[in-house]
Amino acid sequence: MSYLDVIVFCILISAKCCSQDVVFPSWFKFGAASAAYQIEGGWNASDKGESMWDKLLHTQPRVAADGANGDVACDSYHLWRRDIEMCVELGLELYRFSISWPRLLPSGFPNHISEDGKNYYNNLINGLLEKGIEPVVTLYHFDLPQSLQDLGGWANPLIADWFADYARVVFTLYGDRVKTWLTLNEPFGICDVGYNLQQAPYLNDTEVGRYLCNKNTMLAHAKAWRLYQEEFKPRYHGKVSLSTLFIWYEPLTPDDKEVTELTIEHWEGRYAHPIFSKEGGWPPRIQQFLDNAAKKEGYHRPRLPTFTAEEIELVRGTYDFYGLNHYTTRKVRKAKFGEEIESWPFYGSKELGIVLENDRSWPLGSVDWFAMYPEGLWKQLHWLKDTYGVQEILITENGYVNVDDDLNDWKRMKYIRDNLEQIQYAIEDGINVTGYIHWTLMDNFEWLAGYKVNFGLYAVNFTDPERKRTPRESARYYSKVTRGRSYDYLHVGLYE
Ligand SMILES: *[C@@H]1O[C@H](CO)[C@@H](O)[C@H](O)[C@H]1NC(C)=O
Ligand SMILES: *[C@@H]1O[C@H](CO)[C@@H](O)[C@H](O)[C@H]1NC(C)=O
Ligand SMILES: *[C@@H]1O[C@H](CO)[C@@H](O)[C@H](O)[C@H]1NC(C)=O
Ligand SMILES: *[C@@H]1O[C@H](CO)[C@@H](O)[C@H](O)[C@H]1NC(C)=O
Repeated sequence: MSYLDVIVFCILISAKCCSQDVVFPSWFKFGAASAAYQIEGGWNASDKGESMWDKLLHTQPRVAADGANGDVACDSYHLWRRDIEMCVELGLELYRFSISWPRLLPSGFPNHISEDGKNYYNNLINGLLEKGIEPVVTLYHFDLPQSLQDLGGWANPLIADWFADYARVVFTLYGDRVKTWLTLNEPFGICDVGYNLQQAPYLNDTEVGRYLCNKNTMLAHAKAWRLYQEEFKPRYHGKVSLSTLFIWYEPLTPDDKEVTELTIEHWEGRYAHPIFSKEGGWPPRIQQFLDNAAKKEGYHRPRLPTFTAEEIELVRGTYDFYGLNHYTTRKVRKAKFGEEIESWPFYGSKELGIVLENDRSWPLGSVDWFAMYPEGLWKQLHWLKDTYGVQEILITENGYVNVDDDLNDWKRMKYIRDNLEQIQYAIEDGINVTGYIHWTLMDNFEWLAGYKVNFGLYAVNFTDPERKRTPRESARYYSKVTRGRSYDYLHVGLYE
């Protein structure tokens, strides 16, 4: 036997003797996800408007690794039939994709709806439904029309109404066929990342702009949710929520417990508490903390803008399920006196005086922020149930980042397997997790990392004008999972 055979043999044996056939319930759905700017290309096709990513990467081409951009990306604007075929190969029940706001509304406003933009998404939605795959549609995945960015973008409070107007167009066009909606993908990414020079609009404004954006994303989401409730739900009976990024945080020592709770409120609570908590509004501790900081810094108003009582009510409870994006876990500790802190959510926070670390017992993925601790997902799911009492959770993203494009992506398979196992445990505990949407269907334009890292079940050849897609071992594995409705197929992928 070769070394590989021995490993496979051991997996087979352990799978046989140690697992009772764990099968996901029939209502649990498997899917994969993508996002418009990361895959579509066709940046200037037909009458499409410019997005803030188009503008950023055309005017500052060095911002993304290797000067890359999404002008062509996976060329899904032309190759969407192949994308659907891949969903079929994978046996998916859900395909999550996003609509490009400037492709549908070139000016950003509903004064003109692009006929080609409209048809593109009609074709995609109809093509999926023909194959029995349910579309899960994100209205906004980071690609704001540049026209609206020029007017202040997410820092302008009027954007809540602009977004609602856009949402109404989308619900009107596709609401008869799309039953699961996500308004915003990761408002944390829109604001905390986008105003920290890590993403468009690529602004350095973590003190003020980031928090204006925070409040406005909450209002925009709420307005879109409410208008669906009033104008569309009676006819279409769909569900609306948003996708929230949650890294799971644990205290490094018992001494770090309090600062860990503050960290969770800071990076996660600011985007979840206003919507999902019973009382609504900002998480109290972080609001207090930031108000005090602003005073000390000489501001006359809180940097995190206060919600009025009316706004708290507007935002509170605007969800039909919880959409969770989860990738990894970090340990939190107080910074040592004089310690230098790299202020970036994967490493630490200067304002909170905290440093984030990996536990030594957690294996690292291919990048240093990616610790593999699947139990973190289980704890996360419990925390969401305990903290917000959510009755239904859909995992809208979970996936493994790689730096080489090896087709034998053994670690990704293991990552999926281990996370599904923890989801299974959570379901057994009575937590209503209704589906798992893997990030991502195929390699794509990974924002400022360009094409240097990949998350895809399918590899894409970006030097090939045809953008050929090739299944990785993880794609074969996942297609067994979706059909057998169980994760114990690690031994299968390797030999096909
Ligand atoms: C679209 O952009 C490409 C560069 O990405 C350029 O070569 C082409 O001329 C543009 N097409 C139109 C119609 O402007
Ligand atoms: C961002 O702004 C801060 C001050 O607000 C400044 O200290 C820092 O150097 C800026 N960073 C970059 C990369 O420009
Ligand atoms: C789980 O969520 C689904 C969808 O909302 C619902 O139909 C079902 O009753 C829920 N199950 C439990 C146990 O709460
Ligand atoms: C990618 O495509 C290019 C151009 O067609 C080709 O030369 C190259 O061999 C392909 N790479 C792989 C890994 O298939």
